[in-house]
Amino acid sequence: MTKEEILSYADEIARDAIPQGISLGAFDDVTNELVGVTFGECDLYRKPKIKNDNRTPIKIQYLQRLYEWFELIPRIEHGITSILLADVLAVSTQYSNRGIGTELTIRQANLLADLGFTFLLSFITSEKALAIHAKLGSKCLKKVDMRTYRDSRTGEAVFKHAELKDNCIQVMCIDLRNLQSIKSKA
Ligand SMILES: CC(C)(COP(=O)(O)OP(=O)(O)OC[C@H]1O[C@@H](n2cnc3c(N)ncnc32)[C@H](O)[C@@H]1OP(=O)(O)O)[C@@H](O)C(=O)NCCC(=O)NCCS
Repeated sequence: MTKEEILSYADEIARDAIPQGISLGAFDDVTNELVGVTFGECDLYRKPKIKNDNRTPIKIQYLQRLYEWFELIPRIEHGITSILLADVLAVSTQYSNRGIGTELTIRQANLLADLGFTFLLSFITSEKALAIHAKLGSKCLKKVDMRTYRDSRTGEAVFKHAELKDNCIQVMCIDLRNLQSIKSKA
C-alpha cells in the first residue's frame, strides 16, 4: 500500500477502535508526543461492510477479508468466542528497542484481563512482535503462508509478495485467564 493508503486504513481503524476504550498509547514525557499505539477492537471485522462495498479501496477490502477470515479461525477451529483483537501494534522507529512495544502489549493484556475478557487475538507479521507475544505466553493458532492464501472474492493470491518472515502471518492468542491467575497470586 502507499503511505496515503496506509494512513487512510489506520485512520479508519482508529475511528472504530479508540471509542471502544481498550486501546493504549505510549507518550514521550518531555514532548508529549504519541510514540506507540496498540488498538483493541471488539468484533471489528464482523460488521456487514465487507460485501458489495464499492467505496472501500480494493487493497483495504483485501485486508478486511483477510482479517475477517483470521478472526473466524479461533471461533470455528478452536471454539473460542470471547475474543478481543489487538491490532496495529506500532512504535515509532525513533523509540524502538526500548521495551515500549512489550509494555504496551503487557498493559493491554492486563487491562483486558481486569475487565474480564478471556482471549486476546493478534495477527503477527514481524519477528519482534513474535518475541513480545512469546514473552506473554501467546499461542500460535495458525500459521498462514501468504504465498498460497487466496482472496475469498477474487481468488487471487493478493499477498504473495508481502515481506514477511517465512512468508507467513501467525494468528496468535493470549489466554488472559492465565494472566488473571498470575495477577491474583501476586
Ligand atoms: C513490533 C514493534 C511494535 C516492536 O516495538 P519495540 O518497542 O521496538 O519492541 P520492544 O523494545 O518491546 O522489543 C521487543 C522484543 O523484540 C526483540 N527483538 C528485537 N529485534 C529483533 C529481531 N530482529 N528478531 C527477533 N526479536 C527481536 C527484542 O530483543 C525485544 O525482546 P526482549 O525485550 O526480550 O529483548 C515495532 O518494531 C514496530 O512498530 N514495528 C512495525 C509495525 C509492526 O510490525 N507491528 C507488529 C505487527 S504484528
